[in-house]
Amino acid sequence: MRRKLAAGNWKMNGTRAALGTLEALSRAHTTPSVDILICPPATLLAAAVEAVAAFPLAIGGQDCHAETSGAHTGDISAEMLHDAGASAVILGHSERREAYGETSETVRAKAKAAQATGLMTLICVGESLAQREAENTLDIIGAQLALSVPDTSTAQNCVIAYEPCWAIGTGLTPTPEQIAEVHGFMRTTLAARFADADGMRLLYGGSVKPANAAEIFGIGDVDGALVGGGSLTPRDFSPIINALESAL
Ligand code: PGA
Repeated sequence: MRRKLAAGNWKMNGTRAALGTLEALSRAHTTPSVDILICPPATLLAAAVEAVAAFPLAIGGQDCHAETSGAHTGDISAEMLHDAGASAVILGHSERREAYGETSETVRAKAKAAQATGLMTLICVGESLAQREAENTLDIIGAQLALSVPDTSTAQNCVIAYEPCWAIGTGLTPTPEQIAEVHGFMRTTLAARFADADGMRLLYGGSVKPANAAEIFGIGDVDGALVGGGSLTPRDFSPIINALESAL
């Protein structure tokens, strides 16, 4: 049985004032029946870990470097995230693939380093609108999974997030049939490589909000969501968590 996961990606949003938001969210979900993870900006990591210390809410990073330390100005290593109290890290988000030219090989190297440090990796994959329109979606997802997911991945240390680029921050979402097709494909593809693929959690991400969460969580092989804008306030994220709990 896969434990469901509601993950929030705050992206480049939030100053210390947002820690109150985190406390309010924690107080609203003191005994959740799903895992809850918030990935705030790196500047808030340590304070966020402290703010939710008494609650069953996990804190994660949004990226890391593949090396442990060294001359990499502006970068953060997996070990540093772990040291700050993070238990997970998002890797290969399409915004990083697009804006920083991150390749799947880079993502795999980062994931390997993060897993070796004991972090759970949330590895993102997803097609562009042009790729979907050209009916290349499954080829793209297959290639991203093959190259981005390291051999060291297990059901415990690896979560895959399917995030169609065209659905991120746009208010657009794929149809339930399209999500089901990709998630079913990901499960089969991972099963060909990993003995415990049946236990790996597959999240959907891209414009998840309270209004569409229940429908998305009702789709087979959707084990939760990676939520951007909808995770910034308890007003939006709480109902999404509740919808995931109801989908059990
Ligand atoms: P969104 O972002 O929920 O704001 O569409 C999702 C993500 O980028 O992880």
